[in-house]
Amino acid sequence: MRSNRLSELFGITTFGESHGPAIGLLIDSPPPNLDFPSAELCAALQQRSHKGDFSTSRHETDRLEILSGVFEGKTTGMPLCVIVRNCDAKSADYEALKDVFRPGHADYSWFQKYQIFDYRGGGRASGRESLARVIAADLAKNLLKDIKIEITSTQIGELKAGSSSAAGDNPFHWPEPDTYPELIKYLDEIKSLGDSLGGILHVSASNIPSGLGDPIYEKLSANIAKAMFSIGTVRGILFGDGLDLARRPGSQCNDQFAQGLLASNHHGGIVGGVSNGQDLVFELVIRPISSISIPQEALDKAGKPRRISIQGRHDVCHLPRLIPVVEAMLQICLADAIQYQRLISGQSADLPSFRESLDKIDEELITLLWRRRAIVQKVKQYKQQNDLSPQDPAREREILRKAAKLAEGIDLPPELVQDLIKINLRISDTC
Ligand SMILES: Cc1cc2nc3c(=O)[nH]c(=O)nc-3n(C[C@H](O)[C@H](O)[C@H](O)COP(=O)(O)O)c2cc1C
Repeated sequence: MRSNRLSELFGITTFGESHGPAIGLLIDSPPPNLDFPSAELCAALQQRSHKGDFSTSRHETDRLEILSGVFEGKTTGMPLCVIVRNCDAKSADYEALKDVFRPGHADYSWFQKYQIFDYRGGGRASGRESLARVIAADLAKNLLKDIKIEITSTQIGELKAGSSSAAGDNPFHWPEPDTYPELIKYLDEIKSLGDSLGGILHVSASNIPSGLGDPIYEKLSANIAKAMFSIGTVRGILFGDGLDLARRPGSQCNDQFAQGLLASNHHGGIVGGVSNGQDLVFELVIRPISSISIPQEALDKAGKPRRISIQGRHDVCHLPRLIPVVEAMLQICLADAIQYQRLISGQSADLPSFRESLDKIDEELITLLWRRRAIVQKVKQYKQQNDLSPQDPAREREILRKAAKLAEGIDLPPELVQDLIKINLRISDTC
């Protein structure tokens, strides 16, 4: 299972652990001639490693070391490999708990799966891995043109903001200046208790082209959900009006039309798994981080109970650091959907893109041949079990007749299409 690979089209692989030598990123086939790193990447990385009163005091410089794929500041189209060295990892902080499964962390479930885990800073389960995604999005966002993403915190712990209007100019993107001091006071209290808080992030994106996403197993909503759930601490996603859709009757949930346009956006811009041109809107439920200094009941590898208090350097509320990661994952997801839509609809305008589209179609044709042959194999088994003749000339004639008719209807030469179908039948026969 290639579970560290992010996007089929760009072939993004991330690697590295929190206390290993580096976090890294390999992009197999980046688009050529893009500025890399962009001027905005530094700001996104700084926000991800946010230093504030409620954040980890780990101080990493996050300096990019580009190992390949960039020449004179532009991508060459060759594999792009970037690493960021971990310079401020203090593994000694974790020594005392090296044989202990910390409540809420991935230690216990990963140990059950692999019988080994890197206890230093959560290893690969650490939020530090998300750094590689922010770097990857720096390339993906080139495909997004006018798409504008806005993320606000609308709830932190018990405190709710009255609205999700524009993100405030504060690390939490808290939308209400009036209640911001209350939020800070609340976080101070939680910090003094040695506890942590999660919350709700409201995400909206405007200028989304319609037609993104592919029914039924590549729905845009499903792919966004998968991308979001790959981020540690995400516990839920609700599109559009979210939980209200479960309470209201259909008459209040349908987006009706007025003057040829959709008059509301109850479903957050995606219906049937495909974007409809409205703003993309969803909420993420974020759980509090697990590392808290309040004493907790844990378990050690020998199966003995252990009472622990996690010291080290941890966030009280990590939402400010999550915001650029959520944005990056949405950018990667949308870039993938846009790129795929371009490939299958031949919308690209240069020779390499046209060729890529053709290659994609050929690839799909070959996959279809393979799928057809797999079904023919089942038909053969069925016929054998039911004493039916393997050959059926009448059925073959019917297939050829239908193909010729279809070809005529879309202005393709019927004889050539029939030849193709004959080859198709011969390939199916090879099973
Ligand atoms: C940007 C970011 C920062 C994080 N910081 C911390 C942290 O300081 N302490 C902690 O316990 N978990 C932190 N986490 C969460 C862990 O990575 C996550 O809880 C863990 O991998 C288990 O995954 P799960 O929450 O999806 O079950 C952070 C996650 C992200 C994305």
